[in-house]
Amino acid sequence: EKGGYDHFMLKEIHEQPSVIKDTYRGRLHADDGILRLGGLENHIEKFLNADRIIIVACGTSWHAGLVAEYFIEDFTRIPVEVEYASEFRYRNPIISEKDVIIAISQSGETADTLAAIKLAKQKGAFVYGVCNVVGSSISRETDSGTYTHAGPEIGVASTKAFTTQITVLTMIALRLAKAKGTISHSDFVRYLHELELIPTHVEKALQTEDEIKEIASVFMNVRNFLYLGRGYNFPVALEGALKLKEISYIHAEGYPAAEMKHGPIALIDESMPVVVIAIKSDHYEKVVSNIQEIKARKGKILAVVSEGDKTVREMADYVMVVPHTPEALSPLVTTIPLQLLSYHIAVMLGRNVDQPRNLAKSVTVE
Ligand code: F6R
Repeated sequence: EKGGYDHFMLKEIHEQPSVIKDTYRGRLHADDGILRLGGLENHIEKFLNADRIIIVACGTSWHAGLVAEYFIEDFTRIPVEVEYASEFRYRNPIISEKDVIIAISQSGETADTLAAIKLAKQKGAFVYGVCNVVGSSISRETDSGTYTHAGPEIGVASTKAFTTQITVLTMIALRLAKAKGTISHSDFVRYLHELELIPTHVEKALQTEDEIKEIASVFMNVRNFLYLGRGYNFPVALEGALKLKEISYIHAEGYPAAEMKHGPIALIDESMPVVVIAIKSDHYEKVVSNIQEIKARKGKILAVVSEGDKTVREMADYVMVVPHTPEALSPLVTTIPLQLLSYHIAVMLGRNVDQPRNLAKSVTVE
């Protein structure tokens, strides 16, 4: 059942190339410039006429929502807010018929997310679901939606659900951008082709596992980690830190790299590993200077870099290499080494990787 892997989590990490493909298969045909999401086609006007899109989710699904916020606003110019379902539902939120809600949930059973969409529906909003479990409570409660095709996720720590959620949300954003005319036809087709390349890129990122194990063995005994990223990779930093916390029980914080100087920089000394997502992007130079600030305080740099990178490679203590892809799609690949790093640290510490203490696969209590 674990397909020859030691844990479900590792199996699920390695399934990502195929489940990402399963998630866009039949929906995306780059050669023909076609992108069609069954649940979306009849509701595109709802999205385009919306005052704003509010994304509600918890945990890892909330991180996927943050990536979607960057993507949807960037490509469609529709305002997006991302809310923790648990906060949203209890703060008497302002919602109207002009709002579109996207609920993201792997299990489709998370109590707070379910309650948040019930509230939004009462107030007349249109509710769209991005769920993995077919027929789940959230998928039934939503007006329409798109399933991720991740297959059953057994490991409590979410991995393939996250990347397939981002795949779906990216397709939603591209489809809306096309309908709204905020993306040129050539860019649209280029992104479809780039999406079709993601499984190959993920496969390549997975091949660095031995090097990541090496890094895991060096840092398995530290007490704290910092994860930094900017732009589309800020949510990836949050997700990397969450993964490490939940399965290794090592304290980790994710931060937007530029926020470091507003506080967390005080934590940095020679024993502090700082995971920095430093791929080639518009933020590259800025991230390089963030790395310099950390090095000046003797922090250890574990950098996620693009293939062919030289500058960061020279500065970093360790690198995790990922293939190049447009920045907007990069979370799908930069996430991979961070999943592997958490997994191998947790295994080396003898943790119960698939069933970490105190955690349940779906949180059906409020
Ligand atoms: C983290 C994790 C949790 C879930 C959260 C939401 O690895 O598994 O943070 O992401 O409980 O669950 P779903 O997506 O089922 O609503």
